[in-house]
Amino acid sequence: MKRLIPCLEADKTEIELILLIKTIVTACKDISFRVSQGALSNVLGSTLDENIQGETQKKLDVLSNQLLKDMLFESGKVRTIASEEEDYVVAATEGAPYIVAFDPLDGSSNIDINGQIGTIFTIYRARDDVPFDSKLQFAQKGSEQVCAGYVLYGPATMLAMTTGGPTRLFTLDKTQGCYLLTEPEMNISADTQEFAVNMANQTQWSELFKAYIHDLVAGESGVRNKRFNMRWNGAMVGDVHRVLSRGGIFCYPTNINNPTQPAKLRLLYEANPLAMLVENAQGKAFTETTRILDIEPDDIHQRVAVIMGSANEVDACLNYLQ
Ligand code: AHG
Ligand code: MN
Ligand code: MN
Repeated sequence: MKRLIPCLEADKTEIELILLIKTIVTACKDISFRVSQGALSNVLGSTLDENIQGETQKKLDVLSNQLLKDMLFESGKVRTIASEEEDYVVAATEGAPYIVAFDPLDGSSNIDINGQIGTIFTIYRARDDVPFDSKLQFAQKGSEQVCAGYVLYGPATMLAMTTGGPTRLFTLDKTQGCYLLTEPEMNISADTQEFAVNMANQTQWSELFKAYIHDLVAGESGVRNKRFNMRWNGAMVGDVHRVLSRGGIFCYPTNINNPTQPAKLRLLYEANPLAMLVENAQGKAFTETTRILDIEPDDIHQRVAVIMGSANEVDACLNYLQ
């Protein structure tokens, strides 16, 4: 089986980018080891702090954030960093070619239950037209990403990544400490019978979105004339991994009862990288109105509604929302 670096070389990925990707996935190997040790590595539970978004930080959120930051600083390849766990952008190396954003640990609520969690990352070219330490470095549409990926810490540790070509899946060989190519081209089936949504949020949904889910749940006797099944991990990274692996639709729609925070998921380090992975595996990724990768960002912690996965099912959902 092919290793990650030769695979990137064969894809003609630029050397600087390969070195940066290597830095990120090496940090994730360390996170993976600590996650697999559970209580033995003293990483479970919460800290006493909150991040800027008012969420309690878990020990593993903080530790993963620090590990990634330290290694990215050391790499010298990153001009500026943005992270879910950092209130503001973090200036790294002036003149370096790339900027990196990440959700160091997605699915924090799964940490203490030995559930699926993961690290989501995205890489853009640094901008020379704005100061190197400005948040405007990240004022780039998702379609500008030069690399998007996640490392999923499940029963196996897996890396899903695209550098513009196909979405490839690697599995961490823990005996050798390297990522091996196990799925050269992920391909999301256009149709599906599986959906992922937090059903407990129904009172927050628009009437149009309620109608869509109602018709899925109605099964063979409803207008869709098809039985659907539901899966929900509580970690977007795990849910989208399932969608990439066997099709499906993942939805986190607008909360109409909360005008100050109508969406939950963050554009920069959750929606955009996963949207690129999904699109490069023949899927679709939209908010209720717009292709996610076309959104002009206005803040590093900006949130968006997310509907992504099997192309025909995303279309079907968007038809209800018009
Ligand atoms: P994070 O752990 O990085 O804060 O993200 C959690 C996100 C996402 O992974 C998941 O889909 C969603 O929150 C679940 O939230 P609810 O359980 O509140 O629906
Ligand atoms: Mn997250
Ligand atoms: Mn997180």
